[in-house]
Amino acid sequence: MATLADLDALMVLERTIFPDDAWSVDGMTQELSSPHGHFLVVEHDAEIVAYGGAHHLPGDDVADIQTIAVTASARGKGVGAALFDELMTWCSGRGAKRVLLDVRADNLVAQKLYQSRGFDTIAVREGYYQPAHVDALVMERRLTS
Ligand SMILES: CC(C)(COP(=O)(O)OP(=O)(O)OC[C@H]1O[C@@H](n2cnc3c(N)ncnc32)[C@H](O)[C@@H]1OP(=O)(O)O)[C@@H](O)C(=O)NCCC(=O)NCCS
Repeated sequence: MATLADLDALMVLERTIFPDDAWSVDGMTQELSSPHGHFLVVEHDAEIVAYGGAHHLPGDDVADIQTIAVTASARGKGVGAALFDELMTWCSGRGAKRVLLDVRADNLVAQKLYQSRGFDTIAVREGYYQPAHVDALVMERRLTS
């Protein structure tokens, strides 16, 4: 589990990986502190190489994957998939009946990961990502258990 002690390192990675859409310090702090969230980091040689978070309110049918990111040099080795699977296991264990996430329409790599985990696109938020005016796809996976 990530803690507030990871905040500074996470913000450096966040701004590098998402130069146009980086979370604010306040947003990241909220995610790390939320009693209803599950925020994980993956470390290699004491450096964070990936992070991801999910959110679920008690009793809600819906859980959300809030973010997932792998540093450029660690990509393509199964780290993102393993992290994503851990977040999905947490969502399932919380009793969520479905999981939602947003992804940029131009992020085909992430979409492929989500499709491989049974997610389908259920809605499009036109021009959600500004100023680039890129659509957001809302993807959903229903959980059977
Ligand atoms: C999306 C991301 C998390 C994937 O992490 P990763 O560790 O590189 O992914 P993995 O090696 O675990 O591969 C998982 C799946 O992603 C897809 N994938 C990974 N790299 C890919 C590539 N270069 N091209 C196409 N699909 C790819 C594949 O479906 C792959 O499954 P497969 O190996 O069975 O085909 C990573 O690319 C990343 O951090 N990107 C920048 C941040 C980002 O876009 N986050 C998502 C925001 S919604």
